[in-house]
Amino acid sequence: MIKKGIILAGGKGTRMSPLTKAVNKQLLPIYDKPLIFYPLSILMLANIKDILIIVNKGELSQYKKILPNGDNLGIKITYKEQSKPKGLPDAFILGEKFIEKKNVAMILGDNFFYGQNLTKSLIQNTQLKKGAKVVLYKVLKPESFGVAKTNKRNKIIQIKEKPKTFISDLAITGLYFFDNKVVEYAKKLKPSKRGELEIVDLLNIYKRKNQLSADLIGRGGAWLDTGSIDDFYKTSNFVSSIENRQGFKIACLEEISLNKRWISKKQIKESIKFYGKCDYSKYLNNLIS
Ligand code: DAU
Repeated sequence: MIKKGIILAGGKGTRMSPLTKAVNKQLLPIYDKPLIFYPLSILMLANIKDILIIVNKGELSQYKKILPNGDNLGIKITYKEQSKPKGLPDAFILGEKFIEKKNVAMILGDNFFYGQNLTKSLIQNTQLKKGAKVVLYKVLKPESFGVAKTNKRNKIIQIKEKPKTFISDLAITGLYFFDNKVVEYAKKLKPSKRGELEIVDLLNIYKRKNQLSADLIGRGGAWLDTGSIDDFYKTSNFVSSIENRQGFKIACLEEISLNKRWISKKQIKESIKFYGKCDYSKYLNNLIS
């Protein structure tokens, strides 16, 4: 069972400048919460409580203000700084000590998932013992993502990063499950032409060994973009629509912890004090009264 997870939350956020000049993209709001709450909630829903957050060098104190060490959520959060964006597989090199000899999940700090059967499939994916698993989602513009071509039995036969010519409309989302070999394989990678270690090169190592499998999020689920300013607003609108219709919050971290009995009502009261007088606190207060 995978019990460790990494959130890769660095990057320069160039496409969203000037918004990202002073504040890291993953701390900007998706409606009523910082973006990073959403990928963190995904790991928590997968019952992953030991979490490493990788941030840009010099930005640690920004993150620690909002997510200090996980005590308030009944989880353990540790941090590691990345000197510059060297590519997604760098997470496993930086995270070697954290990963130990265990299997590990990784989610990109800017990925948003939502859907009815999500928790069930997340937990299923954490059962991975050997190999690697990616999560696929059909999109209209596959050229913007890593893409996987599958055969009739849902087996991946080809993967490519941002293909210029069409190979498949299944995007590889930023949520990955790996066995412990990932550290060794990541260390062997060479930077690509654009000077980064590439996640597809890492996945291809598993594919060549016949150890790469896929989980597909169907049309009832949502995997939304937060890549550009427009995407940010669209995803914010999505969250706002659901929350204001149902009255339930998406990615309320304390609610997830409370439901899983990782924290007590007393700890929720502490969180209310921490956040101060705001709608989020009101919501937390409703959970315990
Ligand atoms: O979102 C899914 C896509 O994410 C996948 O389909 C692609 O295969 C994968 O390469 C990645 O593509 P992006 O173009 O979205 O990657 P980007 O460089 O924007 O980085 C994604 C997140 O990871 C972003 O929040 C910044 C962070 N990051 C990225 C790099 C390269 C880091 O923290 N450190 C890094 O070195």
